[in-house]
Amino acid sequence: MVDDSRISGYYKLSREERVKKLKELTGLSEEEIAPLVNPSEMDMDILDHMIENVVGTMTLPLGIATNFQINNKDYLVPMAIEEPSVVAAASNAARIARPHGGFHATDSGPVMIAQVQAVEVPAPFEAKVKILQRKQEIIELANEQDPILVKFGGGARDVRVRVIDSAVGPMLITELIVDTQDAMGANAVNTMAEAIAPKIESISGGRVLLRILSNLADLRLVNARAVFDKELLGGEEVVDGIIAAWAFAEADPYRCATHNKGIMNGIDAVVIATGNDFRAIEAGAHSYASKDGYGSLTKYEKTAEGNLAGSIEIPMAVGLVGGATKVHPVARACVRILGVETSTELGHVIASVGLAQNLAALRALASEGIQKGHMSLHARNVAATAGAKGELIEKVAEQLVREEQIKVERAKEILEDFESSEK
Ligand code: MEV
Repeated sequence: MVDDSRISGYYKLSREERVKKLKELTGLSEEEIAPLVNPSEMDMDILDHMIENVVGTMTLPLGIATNFQINNKDYLVPMAIEEPSVVAAASNAARIARPHGGFHATDSGPVMIAQVQAVEVPAPFEAKVKILQRKQEIIELANEQDPILVKFGGGARDVRVRVIDSAVGPMLITELIVDTQDAMGANAVNTMAEAIAPKIESISGGRVLLRILSNLADLRLVNARAVFDKELLGGEEVVDGIIAAWAFAEADPYRCATHNKGIMNGIDAVVIATGNDFRAIEAGAHSYASKDGYGSLTKYEKTAEGNLAGSIEIPMAVGLVGGATKVHPVARACVRILGVETSTELGHVIASVGLAQNLAALRALASEGIQKGHMSLHARNVAATAGAKGELIEKVAEQLVREEQIKVERAKEILEDFESSEK
């Protein structure tokens, strides 16, 4: 947890200075931060046991998004992503939300769904009622599989049954509703689904095939909102432009895919940094966005004062215990940097970053276009590659952009000019 995530000019610091500041603000020890700062120190033994046939690693840059305030708490947000501009854009949008209290988020609880598919059921509608009649027995059997989860306040809560039509005839789908607490819950609910399968067969008279969680985690939703200041956005015209950009996404799936992809730029980066399953989050997000015809995961409106109110509603199946989040040293450091205590708090942060990311993209698209921002970031990288340090990075980059010549050779010349004029 940090007292204040509002850091102006973090990007202007050298990497060493950024790490120093991060340690100061988060109180992380040298040891805790080491795996993140020096990837070579990462314990290869741990990685070797995470998947099969390991030969090496594939590292991504990890940046820190600044300025986030969510439910009155400040966060520095670690983001692992290969795409330039994403971290800067999220930080910028979070800054624009701060004057009106930052982000506010809530959730529907850490509740997952597991499905048990029964085929060849002689009388599926009758079987549905029989299963519902024995709901309590099924819940108890499921909970026997995970006494620890139950001890911590979680466990199976409910059973739903649906009869669906399919290409191979009717199927009886039993769904177990499970509170997975701080776990993402895939292992817990899959074990429960497998355990109740024989009972479903004996009650229904059918044959059980699949027993697996659903990634359409629509009982594990996070809702987040923020008001973005009209002046900081660039005026009421920009506010209207952003609303029209969002309306375009709502009206057209070709645009909406890109719009939602922009949201996922932010979301996946935090999901990856914290060792969570980004494929599960992607599947949940897009299937939820398609529930009533493919639509935007965000909404935008103008407030009475002319500011921009943005909101997001998204399934958020992330955990803090188990899986890579507990095992991977960098993920553990990222969780410490965030200072989140529960899986739902982590979900609040991730959904807020998604909203911030979307706002930043729409703002750029509805005004100057995204290439300008990309170019100035690219110019900074080129300036740094040419050897510029500290304040000179910005000065050299500005000149490269002005001259519309973003090349390392030219950056070296400009740098030499600056350095000789300073002598
Ligand atoms: C690029 O990764 C993301 C954007 O295309 C999102 C959008 O168009 O809204 C900029």
